[in-house]
Amino acid sequence: ESTGLGVELVSIVNKLQDAFAAVGSNSAQIDLPQICVLGSQSSGKSSVLENIVGRDFLPRGSGIVTRRPLVLQLINRTPSAPSTNGTPRQEEWGEFLHLPGKKFFDFNEIRNEIVRDTEAKTGRNAGISPLPINLRIYSPNVLTLTLVDLPGLTKVPVGDQPRDIEKQIRDMLMTYISRPACIILAVTPANQDLANSEGLKMAREVDPEGLRTIGVLTKIDLMDTGTNVVDILAGRVIPLRLGYVPVVNRGQRDIDGNRSISSALQKERQFFENHPSYRANIKFCGTPFLAQKLNNTLKAHIRNTLPTIKSSISQQHQKLWMELQMLGGPVSAANSANVLSSVITEFTTEFRTTIDGTNAASLSLN
Ligand code: GDP
Ligand code: NA
Ligand code: MG
Repeated sequence: ESTGLGVELVSIVNKLQDAFAAVGSNSAQIDLPQICVLGSQSSGKSSVLENIVGRDFLPRGSGIVTRRPLVLQLINRTPSAPSTNGTPRQEEWGEFLHLPGKKFFDFNEIRNEIVRDTEAKTGRNAGISPLPINLRIYSPNVLTLTLVDLPGLTKVPVGDQPRDIEKQIRDMLMTYISRPACIILAVTPANQDLANSEGLKMAREVDPEGLRTIGVLTKIDLMDTGTNVVDILAGRVIPLRLGYVPVVNRGQRDIDGNRSISSALQKERQFFENHPSYRANIKFCGTPFLAQKLNNTLKAHIRNTLPTIKSSISQQHQKLWMELQMLGGPVSAANSANVLSSVITEFTTEFRTTIDGTNAASLSLN
């Protein structure tokens, strides 16, 4: 799917992981960060995540729909060879940690199971729980990466919610977003005042310099005629180092009418193309740009991680080399580490070129 995280990044990470495997380095790994959505209830968090993954499977809707964290592990797998009898193999499926061995090939069934297990653990009456649902999606089209869908910030208890619901949700969100390896998608509906964005406030608490927070402005289509988010995008309201991306997700009517992701993305593109405020900067708008920004952020993370990995490899290697020398053994093991080192150097250089180029472009709005 075109919305998914870039094929290019998938292949880069796969190549690196292959290189590690080839030289037998178990301790060195590309540890990709988790991506978490943060924002108030019904701001569009689940919708944004689903668009990024490019598949329909998350429960969405008005009210508190996401009531437990959903830890979604995307796992890249190479497609298997075509079967001999000509029937197509099913290459994409989901598996829940609480249902080991059961493969879900139908993504609607994945959604039903999320709803079922949420109700089983929290009841039907708006209860929440920090107990995560763990779902793995295996596919040749995804980057091996973890995304977390989280319940929204809320202030007033409803249904079975405890009186300290606000604090309980904040504490739950805090355990995810305070991790330094978490990239925060701070989601704010554009038809609300940005200064009141609970998500942005909370993101600033854990990431004051804005190094890992991307602002996402949803519901651009619901803004009053004559208003727009141009000032926010230009960094004139609450500046964010990584900037903001305006998006148009499926509205409730689209959900009820089963509008597909591809049709929704087409509608999103048309919206921005036909809007006088965004037309001129179309490439900085919408889900594809958000996916691209996320890609760049991940690449920057990989680039920053590589020197540490590289030095840990050469330390291990030096130790091994000395041990071999003391034993009077062969020193051919030295070569594999050198190969890995040069692969890493090559990637680091490649990333520097790509990232510096794209970042400069994406920041030109600010
Ligand atoms: P969450 O509670 O933050 O996960 O939000 P959801 O993704 O469940 O969306 C809440 C409601 O807002 C749903 O009815 C969505 O259809 C609607 N919604 C989300 N994003 C947009 C958007 O960009 N435009 C419109 N019109 N509706 C949206
Ligand atoms: Na909701
Ligand atoms: Mg949700």
